[in-house]
Amino acid sequence: MLEHDVIIVGGGLAGCRAALEIAHTDANLSIALIAKTHPIRSHSVAAQGGMAATLNNVDTEDSWEAHAFDTVKGSDYLADQDAVEILVREAPDVVIELEHMGVLFSRLPDGRIAQRAFGGHAHRRTCYAADKTGHAILHELVNNLRRNGVHIYDEWYVTELILEDTQAKGVVMYNIQTGKIEVVCAKAVMFATGGYGRAYNTTSNDYASTGDGLAMSALAGVPLEDMEFVQFHPTGLYPVGVLISEAVRGEGAYLINSEGSRFMANYAPSRMELAPRDITSRAIVREISAGRGINPDGSAGGPFVYLDLRHMGQEKIMSRVPFAWEEAHRLVGIDAVYQPMPVRPTIHYSMGGIPVTTDGQVRSSLSGLIDGFFAAGEAACVSVHGANRLGSNSLLECVVYGRRTGAIIAQYLQNRKLPTVDEQRYVTATQQQIQSLLDRSGTIRIDKLRREFQDCMTNYCGVFRTEKLMREGLESLQQLQQQYQDIYLDDKGKLWNTEVIEALELRNLMIVGQLILTSACHRQESRGAHCREDYPDRDDTNFLKHTLAYYSPAGIQVNYLPVQITMFQPQLRNY
Ligand code: FUM
Repeated sequence: MLEHDVIIVGGGLAGCRAALEIAHTDANLSIALIAKTHPIRSHSVAAQGGMAATLNNVDTEDSWEAHAFDTVKGSDYLADQDAVEILVREAPDVVIELEHMGVLFSRLPDGRIAQRAFGGHAHRRTCYAADKTGHAILHELVNNLRRNGVHIYDEWYVTELILEDTQAKGVVMYNIQTGKIEVVCAKAVMFATGGYGRAYNTTSNDYASTGDGLAMSALAGVPLEDMEFVQFHPTGLYPVGVLISEAVRGEGAYLINSEGSRFMANYAPSRMELAPRDITSRAIVREISAGRGINPDGSAGGPFVYLDLRHMGQEKIMSRVPFAWEEAHRLVGIDAVYQPMPVRPTIHYSMGGIPVTTDGQVRSSLSGLIDGFFAAGEAACVSVHGANRLGSNSLLECVVYGRRTGAIIAQYLQNRKLPTVDEQRYVTATQQQIQSLLDRSGTIRIDKLRREFQDCMTNYCGVFRTEKLMREGLESLQQLQQQYQDIYLDDKGKLWNTEVIEALELRNLMIVGQLILTSACHRQESRGAHCREDYPDRDDTNFLKHTLAYYSPAGIQVNYLPVQITMFQPQLRNY
């Protein structure tokens, strides 16, 4: 059995930043970082537009209080305000720290870090590295991991969280290259496993965003918080769904319908294209539904709207958002200097996740904590984003709460002993699980079932929702889960058996989908990204609270957790 002081699952920004903090705090600790891809291929590398922090380099009127207010209003008042305060107060410090590590932020002519406008932020506070910010930060963090002696297990897929008697004791993992199964025992386990964009058929997320950490936690009995809040990014490139960064609108691009009109004037006149994502995504879907979308031949009534950069000019496009230009050129043959880009909303982010305290400790219930289990980043819900996240607050959350959780873990580890784990029991159970997948003589291909599942989530739990639609979605999902018993794998081997991984990921995605749909059915109001046509208003009397959904194969139980309101009382949310 492998042993480490701490295991971090997930090689993105939150996991890497936590690992570094632990290593800096106590160089003698043995830190393992386990990731199913190489860490520099984690989805954080795809983050584009930037990271918010009130450096006041561009906008001297900005303040942490203003950042906190924008975040809380953006969240439709569901964010926990104690957690938001930590996020925004620590923001300038973590950006400077990254700069000192060597992150190449874009600069103002005087050499200070440049800052741009972003959706829902009233001030220009988003620090960036052109439109490749995640790439710039993650590469630097991963380089630092190596220098600090963090043990990286890359291309190991974690299959199970070992949680016994409310204590996390380790994980079981499967080597993708060789098929070997290992138990890793540790004094503390941290999940920084990212989101679940692949639960939907069109997403900005990479293929690895399959909600594994969420599903493993749910299977181990951990409740998941606010899973109904699924973020659609307004500008996915049509038809592929990849992200066209909000930075493009931050730098001045327009959203245009088939009538050539900047339609955001009708939805968020004070913010126009820089309204929060929930509002902008709904506006685009409404324009398309009203027949003011555009077809590939330019005629009206089609499935997308235009993102028009032409007035920005070649120099600005190529220096500020070169990656957006490149994506549109490479993937759909559009030269954005001369042509508008076709866009429509695409699944982007999970506001919900594994419930944690502001110290990153995972909750077992309304009042209980799980010993030795921590989480941060998109997989976690410390609820700084509430019902709708503002762009450029997620890189910030990963770094602030990654660092904070790392510091807490380093303290937690002092004078702790390794727990005892029955290695053979876990190895045997995982061997049996994988063998039973290999032995199946069903008739359904994983790919077909995954597509049907993704269509189910997209059709029944999208931008607009109703009880009837979601109940149909749950029924359809139940049938798809039954069909899972009837999948088959062509590859029966051990080496690089990606079908085994796909089968395990699909099981996880379906559990996450069930939690999303069930939590969404229970929330009978509209708030942030959760928009119910049958309950069109926000209902603070009954639903100013966080959902906690407990999974079991027999069904999902829903409970609620109070919202922390410390600075801003809920108000009408207009822009
Ligand atoms: O649009 C973007 O660049 C995305 C940023 C974010 O999700 O924070």
